Amino acid sequence: MRQMLSMQGSWSNRWVFILAAMGSSVGLGNIWLFPIMVGQYGGGAFILLYLCCMLLVAVPIMMAEVVIGRHARQNPVNAIEGAAVSAGASRHWRLVGVLAIFCGFLIFSYYSVVAGWVLHYLVAMIFGQLNGLGVDQTSRFFNALLADSQMLLLWHSLFVLLVIWVLAQRVERGLDRAMRFLMPVLFLMLFMLLGFALTTGEFVPATEYLFNFHLQDIGWDAVLIALGHSFFTLALGVGVIMAYSAYMGKGDAIAPTVIAIGVFDTLVAMLIGLVVVTVVMAAQMELRSGPGLLFVTLPVAFTQLPGGQVFGFLFFLLAAVAALTSAISLLEPATAWLTERFRWSRARAVSLLGVLAWGLGVAALYSLGQLPDLKLLGVSIFDLIDITTTILFLPLGGIAVAVLAGWVLDKEVLTAELALSSPSLASLWLWLLRFIAPSAVGLIFVMNLYNALYS
Ligand code: TRP
Repeated sequence: MRQMLSMQGSWSNRWVFILAAMGSSVGLGNIWLFPIMVGQYGGGAFILLYLCCMLLVAVPIMMAEVVIGRHARQNPVNAIEGAAVSAGASRHWRLVGVLAIFCGFLIFSYYSVVAGWVLHYLVAMIFGQLNGLGVDQTSRFFNALLADSQMLLLWHSLFVLLVIWVLAQRVERGLDRAMRFLMPVLFLMLFMLLGFALTTGEFVPATEYLFNFHLQDIGWDAVLIALGHSFFTLALGVGVIMAYSAYMGKGDAIAPTVIAIGVFDTLVAMLIGLVVVTVVMAAQMELRSGPGLLFVTLPVAFTQLPGGQVFGFLFFLLAAVAALTSAISLLEPATAWLTERFRWSRARAVSLLGVLAWGLGVAALYSLGQLPDLKLLGVSIFDLIDITTTILFLPLGGIAVAVLAGWVLDKEVLTAELALSSPSLASLWLWLLRFIAPSAVGLIFVMNLYNALYS
């Protein structure tokens, strides 16, 4: 039986859904991966390529997630099962939902460890502990933090509690309110940081680094990276968008909403990239990607510049907010599932999930620090969770959603829910879902697996 409203509650309007989806998509990936990726793989040419990947592959899959979630107004497991059964397909399709919410839970466990690092840096910035430190000293500061499992435990626990607190309440009082507060804060900090970047005198070279066209740098590796990143950043393949869509209004247009999310996410990524590249260039340092950028290069760069302590603090605040809104999204599908499956309260469901994920995160953080022997299959627990989720689960989840919506579900029901203005647009969407999306994501999957196993 279809429901008119989700039992979890609903967004106050379409814009809050957009804010929430952006909150999920703008995360650490936008900060420590995107700017460097763009610089390395062709600047403006890469951005164009990335937008194409997004429009042809990620957006159709995201639309499918929204359609399935809003149609059912239930958690991803029930939504997928219901849609499959009413199209006469096996109810075992629900396993796709189960794997997806499990994957979100796994990503959450290590993501909140990294968020703990961000919180530690935030406080270090306030007390000026990083002022005047060079690269070597800051690296030492970072390594000492990784080895200090008690300290990490504290920050990790605090972060998990914060997420539990937001998710424990109904959507109107929890998710909706948190997004309406946190996302404007994030935008405000981003604009202040852009203002700071403009004063450093390196804004123009940074713009050139990021946006000049270098077609010669575009190759197959750039395509794979663009595709893979569009997936991670748009939070696809783990049911987050599907769960959020269950709280969406009936009349809200889906396609423009989804395109707006993709475009805004890219815009925010580019603006963050501008701040990052300008600051690093102004301090005459080398750009690199990943944790080293956020936890070594950027603190050194910020604190070298006039006013840098304040703006460095703002930057880590931005990173903390981005991590918080992403982490919240990762635990929502599982929370919705537990409450709808077992009729638990949200508080009970998210407390149980939070404690389990917290425990897994603790194992991950000890595996990086005081218990380096805590390994499985030869890698630390931390890396194991990271690799299995991003290399295996995310692409598989994406392919499964594309195949399900493209080939299995009832076309009439899908297109009625999608309500596109013209039938040819609907056919285009289905065609992308059937052929382009699964083959493109399948390609990333095989290549990433190959790279992980043989290099
Ligand atoms: N998009 C976030 C980032 O860029 C991380 C994230 C949030 C995520 N929800 C997700 C990644 C769901 C994969 C799936 O850091």
